[in-house]
Amino acid sequence: MCGIVGYVGTQQASPILVEGLTRLEHRGYDSAGLAVLGSTGVKVAKRAGRVRDLADGLPKRFAGKVGIGHTRWATHGPANDVNAHPHTDAKGLVAIVHNGIIDNAAALRQRLADEGADLVSDTDSEVLAHLVGRSGADTLEGKVSDALSAVEGTYGLAVLHADFPDRLVVARNGSPLLVGVGDREMYVASDLAAIVRHTTTVAHLDDGEIATLTATGFTTYRLDLSRTARDATTLDIDPAAYEAGDHESFMHKEMLEQPAAAVRVLRGRLDERFGTAHLGGLDMDARETRAIRRVKILGCGSAYYVGQMGASLVEELARIPADAEAASEFRYRNPIIEPDTLYVAVSQSGETIDTLLAVQEIRRKGGRVIGLVNVVGSAIARECDGGIYLHAGPEVAVASTKALTNMFLGFALLALQLGRVRDLSIADGRRLIAGLQRLPEQIEEVLAQEEALAALAGRLAEAESLFFVGRVRGFPVAREGAQKFKEISYRHAEAYQTSELKHGPLALISPDVPTVAIVPEDELTDRNVGALHEIAARRGPLVVVTHEGVDLGDVEAERVVVPRNERELDPILMTIPLQLLAYHAALRLGHDIDKPRNLAKSVTVE
Ligand code: AGP
Repeated sequence: MCGIVGYVGTQQASPILVEGLTRLEHRGYDSAGLAVLGSTGVKVAKRAGRVRDLADGLPKRFAGKVGIGHTRWATHGPANDVNAHPHTDAKGLVAIVHNGIIDNAAALRQRLADEGADLVSDTDSEVLAHLVGRSGADTLEGKVSDALSAVEGTYGLAVLHADFPDRLVVARNGSPLLVGVGDREMYVASDLAAIVRHTTTVAHLDDGEIATLTATGFTTYRLDLSRTARDATTLDIDPAAYEAGDHESFMHKEMLEQPAAAVRVLRGRLDERFGTAHLGGLDMDARETRAIRRVKILGCGSAYYVGQMGASLVEELARIPADAEAASEFRYRNPIIEPDTLYVAVSQSGETIDTLLAVQEIRRKGGRVIGLVNVVGSAIARECDGGIYLHAGPEVAVASTKALTNMFLGFALLALQLGRVRDLSIADGRRLIAGLQRLPEQIEEVLAQEEALAALAGRLAEAESLFFVGRVRGFPVAREGAQKFKEISYRHAEAYQTSELKHGPLALISPDVPTVAIVPEDELTDRNVGALHEIAARRGPLVVVTHEGVDLGDVEAERVVVPRNERELDPILMTIPLQLLAYHAALRLGHDIDKPRNLAKSVTVE
């Protein structure tokens, strides 16, 4: 949440910073600001609203070759001009941008106020500017180190100071920050997306590290200013992966990328000969794998729902008891950590603080955690004992699509590997592999139904309130479908087990409340169709996501037909049309698809 970009070099900073902020905007988009250091000192421009509002209103004279920028997702205080970053100290010599939360901000505000400081914003971050400004240290690194020694909490921080015009000092604790190396210029960013057009040679800072950036290089330190050794590496990344190209939104691009992303996560991991998967990153031999008695999956939001799909895969294929839990709740119930449980943290960004803290809680109690993570080198990936990278490529839209599909496939691979060291037969292993190999093409087939789904979505968008229902394997699909729908269309969409409708929510069914029902051809089809009759009898409009030839009796419904695969893999094929329904409903309602209101791509606050 929130994005940081910084520059020091030979060019004017502000155009580079504005471009960087535009690329970071998915991380937070309620206000934005810049500070540059020019011949007349520190200049700040900031305002509530989008980066384009900031860029349009920049003063004519805003020159400086050192600068920092920020795009905000409000935590302390409303989104207004004063609370926007950068924040400055009393003398206007220091400007800072900050991601994260300062836990002891209230006490520090009081202390600073007692000392005569005049804090103007409601933010926790402003204290950092004052602490740096009031430090008596004679270097900027020393001032930043002094300030950080007083704070408790998380930060990605970038600081400039008029008395040290050749440098930026940056620091990281719990909020990602990377340094980018250019030709006689250096960058800092909370996400590679901000600087990828300029450089792919980067160094990721560790928690507890400070770095000084000048035009000619960077130096890293611990908080006590003892030096650390950190080299930059050049990443093999195509900057075009961060562009929406001809698509009207990143979400659209990312949905259509799913077949290719699916191929990538499976590549080199399927072993047809032994009917199993090879996941080198798990770092577990067959004996350790056999010793697993339970699998516990932790994730947030859509990652949690895919975790529920993953738990079904593990139970069905490996016959190991498995369940998924919201990572945001897990550590607050003092969980019992078992030595023979395999804990699995699932996250696109690898930054979600609730998931990260759950991982830390498990490891602190001696449990083994593996990660299913998309962003390589992210905090969760680094914290885990091993894992499976999802290779979905950069995902920019707040509504996650291709990363979730690859999470599901990651779980299928995990379940296959766990199953094959236990009771899953080689024939069943090969059956699953063949099914996985068919999936990318079948996902393509579902995506090809976009036009019909768009027309259907237009009708659904008219309803103020909808149900998404499914049973067993279909229930997490319904949850994810409802999540996508409410996330970007802002319609009330509630997921329910189909079997539970008659225990209460059926009272809400009416011609104004459509239901999207997940009805695969499986052992529950007849029961599902029974529930459809109950909805139809109350004149509830129905959209049924199903397989060709499933007999719905005389129920009137709009059908969305997905290809047949192995039953265990149905959930992912049934999820894809729900993405398109949500997308086209939001489009019809005229919403900002990639940046839905109140949300942000990575949730790095508790
Ligand atoms: C998905 O569409 C949502 N934006 C959200 O629920 C997301 O899945 C959740 O915040 C977890 O994010 P992560 O995968 O980066 O951990």
